[in-house]
Amino acid sequence: MAETAEIFIDGQRVAFQAEQTIMMAAHAAGIYIPHLCHHPELKPHGSCRLCVVEVNGRKLSACTTLAQQGQIIHNQRADLIASRRCVLQLLFVEGNHVCPACEKSGDCQLQALAYAVEMISPRFAHFYPQRTVDASHPDILLDYNRCILCELCLRASRDVDHKNVFSLQQRGDKTHLSVNSASGQLADSTLALGDKAMQVCPVGALLSKQTAYQTPIGARLYDQKPIAQGEAHDG
Ligand code: SF4
Ligand code: FES
Repeated sequence: MAETAEIFIDGQRVAFQAEQTIMMAAHAAGIYIPHLCHHPELKPHGSCRLCVVEVNGRKLSACTTLAQQGQIIHNQRADLIASRRCVLQLLFVEGNHVCPACEKSGDCQLQALAYAVEMISPRFAHFYPQRTVDASHPDILLDYNRCILCELCLRASRDVDHKNVFSLQQRGDKTHLSVNSASGQLADSTLALGDKAMQVCPVGALLSKQTAYQTPIGARLYDQKPIAQGEAHDG
């Protein structure tokens, strides 16, 4: 009889298939591992570090590490949660995230994760970067202030929509999202509301102009259920 392939996440036995990552196996078993740059329909990226778990004593990103027989994985230990809180505190000061004024409030994975790890204070000094808003497109708003550089839109546009609307420019703290059009404006790109790239932004950086505030604040996804207890906006 074939042996069942299994890993153990916080003591729970989790079956997995060949080529599944720890993130995929956990997701299939209904276990939430925090993530911002992961989407089940896109290639793993491993950049946000929210999904770091301990695997047989080593800290590894769950979205890029393949599940292997018998792995002992910690997902909820206090030191892992403290690391995630620190990553989130950095993300919040790197950009300009004004949650009460954001259309995505209550539907935003960044905000929901901050609540999940009980991020109370900013901890680090705010960068207050000077960023712009691209409102040139008739249907779509791109607010660079809220972009966390997860590259989900970039990967979705390139690999699913086959349009390659976005790229990242420069390096280090100068890294920023850019629109691949002659003017650098969305109006001159081929981005359309129905694109996969428009469905994957975990924050309020890419928004439809046509559907704002259809669900009132207080009745949104994470207003009703914490992110760890429900499905993220993953598709
Ligand atoms: Fe990620 Fe959204 Fe920024 Fe695209 S616009 S890189 S999806 S945060
Ligand atoms: Fe794994 Fe971002 S979700 S590094």
